[in-house]
Amino acid sequence: MKALLCLIVIASLPSLVSAVHLTNSSIDHIFSVLQNISQYSWENGTKSEALLEKTYPSLSVFSPTAPLPLPADLSQDDISQILDIAHTTLSNRPATNTSVSAHGGSPLLSDGAAGDPASLGVAILLANWSTNNALWNNVGYGDAATMELNYLLYDVPRSAQGAISHRADQVQYWADFVYMVPPFLAYYGALHNNQSLLQEAYTQCSLYRGQLRQSSGLWNHIEGGTTNNGGSHDPNPCGGMLRVLATIKWSGFQSQMSSQMSDLQSWVEEILTATQQYITSDGLLRNYMTDSTSFEDASGSALMAASGIRLSTLNLTNDYINQSLTLLSAVSSKVNSSGYVTQVVNPTDFSTQGTQSPEAQSFLVMAYSAYDQWDKQGRPGFQSGEGSSSSKGSNGDPLGKSSSSGFKRFHIGTGTGTGIMASLVVGGLVLGLSVLV
Ligand SMILES: *[C@@H]1O[C@H](CO)[C@@H](O)[C@H](O)[C@H]1NC(C)=O
Ligand SMILES: *[C@@H]1O[C@H](CO)[C@@H](O)[C@H](O)[C@H]1NC(C)=O
Ligand SMILES: *[C@@H]1O[C@H](CO)[C@@H](O)[C@H](O)[C@H]1NC(C)=O
Ligand SMILES: *[C@@H]1O[C@H](CO)[C@@H](O)[C@H](O)[C@H]1NC(C)=O
Ligand SMILES: *[C@@H]1O[C@H](CO)[C@@H](O)[C@H](O)[C@H]1NC(C)=O
Ligand SMILES: *[C@@H]1O[C@H](CO)[C@@H](O)[C@H](O)[C@H]1NC(C)=O
Ligand SMILES: *[C@@H]1O[C@H](CO)[C@@H](O)[C@H](O)[C@H]1NC(C)=O
Ligand SMILES: *[C@@H]1O[C@H](CO)[C@@H](O)[C@H](O)[C@H]1NC(C)=O
Ligand SMILES: *[C@@H]1O[C@H](CO)[C@@H](O)[C@H](O)[C@H]1NC(C)=O
Repeated sequence: MKALLCLIVIASLPSLVSAVHLTNSSIDHIFSVLQNISQYSWENGTKSEALLEKTYPSLSVFSPTAPLPLPADLSQDDISQILDIAHTTLSNRPATNTSVSAHGGSPLLSDGAAGDPASLGVAILLANWSTNNALWNNVGYGDAATMELNYLLYDVPRSAQGAISHRADQVQYWADFVYMVPPFLAYYGALHNNQSLLQEAYTQCSLYRGQLRQSSGLWNHIEGGTTNNGGSHDPNPCGGMLRVLATIKWSGFQSQMSSQMSDLQSWVEEILTATQQYITSDGLLRNYMTDSTSFEDASGSALMAASGIRLSTLNLTNDYINQSLTLLSAVSSKVNSSGYVTQVVNPTDFSTQGTQSPEAQSFLVMAYSAYDQWDKQGRPGFQSGEGSSSSKGSNGDPLGKSSSSGFKRFHIGTGTGTGIMASLVVGGLVLGLSVLV
């Protein structure tokens, strides 16, 4: 009787022990919300990458088949949603900086963050390819991309070591930069057979790691100038370095740059390994991972999950599949019925929790794109015995896994069981109440 009661209680606690594998229509819903709420340069740039991975996967650098060189006959209809973003961006673009001292550089968008507009660079390059440098708002797509490149290379302040600042007014290192800038430099280089730009993308990753990495392998968030933010903030470097790696792989310089590719891989793995011990009993990473008072952030957790799964679909290693599935299942459980990822870092105040985040929507879409590709490749690294207990989501579904491990942890009595125990008590009360009613 007692055992039966326990089972009923567990079944009545979906937020803790249920496994969540979102359907394709939920992902579409999450993407529609993203379309509605994406606003800032970096949000639209991250959205364009999510769109590429979800809707035009054969053009993404994570494609299993060569995404480069671009098809000569790429048409506007082939990438219509990318063109929508390119149009919005060029419509908002400030007038070209014609000053001689600008060295032919001009940013895609006005932004105090020198690095963020570059997140739209790949979308602009694709739009250009399908229109042959057609004009939009009086500027050619290709010209706008080249001026953005020159802005980064020649106008933005640099550190003594050569790191391009994330901020326009003074040299600051932000972990965010690694997702926004190097993937654009690399893609521009690959598209134009320019090895020195691919090398520049690699060098920027290396310089940012050199500055922000702590001895644990985790990175600080911000250093330099008037803003400093310790703690750890690792999803952006992981995702950014992986895109640079994948871009080099599909460029014409794969064999000349094999050591750069293996460095990037080891730098991504270094972060993923360092995060392992900070995955909470809810299956998430905290905003400041090492600070047990910081809230659990579904946004960063989603990009971490995507990164671990992409290491597998790039055929590099399956070592991070388990932790990525745990994260993805947990983030999925944070999506509410209106299609919002909840429990996310505030997009405009990185130390506080917010109610919604366009980046979180994008990162979750990316994680599912990675998951679908991994599924197609035969789920390498997944032990099918896992997740096969009595919990919902079992029957061999890899995203059913975290629930059963939570369940097991409770039974073997490790420290992580406390939260579940407390919830059992609450669940029992709820059950008791419903029996009374
Ligand atoms: C969901 O979408 C992915 C990617 O388009 C596809 O591979 C998969 O088969 C779809 N799943 C279902 C159940 O339709
Ligand atoms: C997007 O916004 C429109 C206008 O406010 C609203 O009608 C629609 O339901 C929203 N879509 C989603 C998916 O939230
Ligand atoms: C981002 O996209 C939204 C929706 O399309 C648009 O309203 C907004 O102006 C864009 N932001 C920038 C900085 O271009
Ligand atoms: C990974 O391996 C699979 C199976 O051999 C192959 O189809 C795919 O193209 C490879 N992916 C990459 C990114 O090389
Ligand atoms: C043009 O670029 C120069 C050199 O970077 C800079 O000093 C100037 O402020 C820029 N002008 C505008 C209008 O942004
Ligand atoms: C723009 O696209 C055309 C082909 O349509 C290509 O020749 C040109 O190099 C592209 N420009 C950039 C900056 O990629
Ligand atoms: C590569 O790009 C850089 C920056 O635009 C340029 O200075 C250099 O001449 C290019 N190299 C080649 C070989 O095209
Ligand atoms: C899988 O990951 C979870 C959460 O990180 C961890 O508790 C569990 O021990 C891992 N299982 C294996 C087989 O590594
Ligand atoms: C889902 O979350 C969003 C953003 O926090 C909120 O506006 C919306 O009301 C929530 N929907 C439900 C059904 O709770």
